Amino acid sequence: MTTEPIQIYQAPMQGFTDFSYRKVIFETFGGIDKYFIPYLSYGKGHEIKKSQMREVLPENNLQMPVVPQVLFSDQTELFDLISILVDSGYPEINLNLGCPYPMATNRGRGAAWLEKPEALNELLQQLFRNNFPVRFSVKMRAGMTSDHDCKAIFDVLNQFPILEIIFHPRTAGQMYEGKANPLLFTEAVSLVKHPLVYNGDLSSAVHFQELKTMLPEQNKWMIGRGLLVNPALAAQLKGEVFDSKIVRKKLKEFHEHLLESYSARLQGDSHILMRMNQFWTFFSESFENPHKAMKLVKKSSSLLKYNAAIVEIFRSF
Ligand SMILES: Cc1cc2nc3c(=O)[nH]c(=O)nc-3n(C[C@H](O)[C@H](O)[C@H](O)COP(=O)(O)O)c2cc1C
Repeated sequence: MTTEPIQIYQAPMQGFTDFSYRKVIFETFGGIDKYFIPYLSYGKGHEIKKSQMREVLPENNLQMPVVPQVLFSDQTELFDLISILVDSGYPEINLNLGCPYPMATNRGRGAAWLEKPEALNELLQQLFRNNFPVRFSVKMRAGMTSDHDCKAIFDVLNQFPILEIIFHPRTAGQMYEGKANPLLFTEAVSLVKHPLVYNGDLSSAVHFQELKTMLPEQNKWMIGRGLLVNPALAAQLKGEVFDSKIVRKKLKEFHEHLLESYSARLQGDSHILMRMNQFWTFFSESFENPHKAMKLVKKSSSLLKYNAAIVEIFRSF
């Protein structure tokens, strides 16, 4: 069993872990060692969406250890995206080799790279020849449709000075079905020479203990949905004990600060409510009656009604 302190990373989740969310979780609960920014990528006409650019602006990420991520289909896209982030002063950039959505993979992005070890090898040779003043980490799944894909990819990654690899042991084809496979992670540990970060389904202290039993040497973990349901999870896994009243109080505070942040930067009730609805799709799971909580949120047609619903949810559910 490793005695090194555990490190917890917040997974990038497009549409959820935006800069308002990152700041509020950092200030309210903490316990997170790195906050990964959802990917930066080119849209139509080689343009980057304004909302994605806002995410990587240094002034929106002050005082937090953040890592931006890039999603790319070829060397031109990759180098252009890296240049933007290098100019913004980031010391680490994460390469997305795991996005499973057809919109990305059909364009050769994300998990599509897992079926192209030779092309990846060539790309990484060019990348490291270029000497960008930044370290690169990788976030990947086990394969496109076969979990054998990762073996050839590990062989390629082993040849380059990668900072660390975040490994989500599921194929892209699985999307989020079934369970992440810790045995596949154990296999990866024997094949990869870089530090590995476990990612996949970590949702509670009990589950964490089960994973620790299976992976006793593992001390780096990335959490996505588990933190969206329970923003206190990272702090709790690091030993912070909150009694249930304190958790409830802090969750309320967390929600208030998030709402304040969206209200300050978004125009009009409908935009703010859309963001809060999105947030509640996971957050409602931290309440005893998630369906009722979600129903009340969804029913709120104005901020006034929404605020009344929140009082009711925190009082009754
Ligand atoms: C809505 C949504 C958006 C996501 N966006 C990204 C992203 O921008 N970049 C990325 O590498 N992974 C993204 N992911 C994958 C997560 O980072 C993470 O790998 C996955 O949810 C598994 O971790 P978990 O089981 O702890 O949630 C996304 C997942 C979801 C559900």
